[in-house]
Amino acid sequence: MSHRILLADDEVNSLKVISASLRDHQFDVATATSGEEAFSRFQTEHFDLVISDYLMPGINGEKLLEKVKTRSPETPFILLTAYGTIELAVNAMRKGAYTYLTKPVNVDLLESVVRDALGSREPRIDDETPGRHQFLNIIGRSKPMQEVFSLVRRVSKTDANVLILGESGTGKEMVARAIHYTSLRSNNPFIPIDCTTIPAELMESELFGYERGAFTGAMERKIGLIEMAQGGTVFLDEIGDLDYALEKKLLRFLQEKEIRRIGSKENIEVDVRVIAATNRNIEEEVKTGNFRADLYYRLNVITVRMPPLRERKDDILPIANHFLRTLCKKNKKQICGLESDVVQTLKEYDWPGNVRELENLIERAMILCPYDRINLECLPKKLRTLQEKERFDSEELNLPQMEKQIIRKALDKTAWNQSQAATLLGISRKQLRTKMKNLKLLQG
Ligand SMILES: Nc1ncnc2c1ncn2[C@@H]1O[C@H](COP(=O)(O)OP(=O)(O)OP(=O)(O)O)[C@@H](O)[C@H]1O
Ligand SMILES: [Mg+2]
Repeated sequence: MSHRILLADDEVNSLKVISASLRDHQFDVATATSGEEAFSRFQTEHFDLVISDYLMPGINGEKLLEKVKTRSPETPFILLTAYGTIELAVNAMRKGAYTYLTKPVNVDLLESVVRDALGSREPRIDDETPGRHQFLNIIGRSKPMQEVFSLVRRVSKTDANVLILGESGTGKEMVARAIHYTSLRSNNPFIPIDCTTIPAELMESELFGYERGAFTGAMERKIGLIEMAQGGTVFLDEIGDLDYALEKKLLRFLQEKEIRRIGSKENIEVDVRVIAATNRNIEEEVKTGNFRADLYYRLNVITVRMPPLRERKDDILPIANHFLRTLCKKNKKQICGLESDVVQTLKEYDWPGNVRELENLIERAMILCPYDRINLECLPKKLRTLQEKERFDSEELNLPQMEKQIIRKALDKTAWNQSQAATLLGISRKQLRTKMKNLKLLQG
């Protein structure tokens, strides 16, 4: 049975073209020339998906979206928008639109987006497998990560610039790659550019390239990274560290969609999507004038906020197990697992270095640990003491028990030499012997 689509647009030509193309692909299409007409049909008939123009007199696309979502939140909704109203459409995405497409609509693109949108609401066979908690190779079963996945799915179908914010090690680069590789640009290059590792004086020529003879030492023409990404995506990592002088040039490229190699008079059109990331508080930097506001707004059409690991503790174990499995294979170990007190410790720790820290910890423990299962001894000291402190806190406040533990520690330290242990404890040997007798403290 074919899917039923409701298509609303006040421009009759556009309505004709789009509906004909969808019908060619075996969809059952009903059309409406206004938001009012579309909604009255929606109330009485069944539709699997709605496509609507944004700008319509009366009930516009956004209002129609709200009405449809109130009645049937599950129904995917695609907005069509003319170039000047992209920002509005992006805003509407926050109200639950599946995605937006710019007009004139590329009908092949529309068909693929429609199929994705319809597929997204059908229960998948692998729903109960671990795949459900994974997006490409990003693991995340927690609610905040599920929200990130859903946003990534939606933005990857658009060409909007994306700004990824989050602490170091939260997976910003992974998300940037996921957006690119699930987008229509996936067959073209993904070019990561780390603004912290390229020296400021080289950055401009790296980004924009140069012509032969543009400056002393420019022996050959060099194609810049942005031009190399033609048709694909550039990932500007640590954008907060970009030199202020370059911000203006970058802004020009974002506004005009063209670049000029250094030493050239010719502009080159580039079709490149920009994904930027930073672990700095960029909103604050904009306020204090450290980062250009106009550039910030261009980059930040859609924001993806990566939650720190301590705010999604449900993800700690699945991610730890994932690293364990991969590293286990790599290190050719037979059995790999975590002792239960290790599991507990990992959950309690607050992970300032986020997923990267967890990854390093598992790798280190795997190398150090002589056992099949990683135990507490193989964790770094700061995590071990966390567990010991916990144990101490949860112990009943029983003085003889405590005393017994402390005396045993002193004796262990001195190989049960009573004189030395007594000195360590600050009591006489006789006092120690009495205490040992009363506490029934025996060697072994
Ligand atoms: N959800 C996740 N599932 C599996 N691996 C992850 C996940 N998040 C991050 N990682 C891994 O953790 C490491 C850090 O991720 P990534 O480089 O994407 O973070 P980042 O936010 O860009 O960090 P930084 O600010 O330090 O550059 C990588 O090795 C990545 O593979
Ligand atoms: Mg990074």
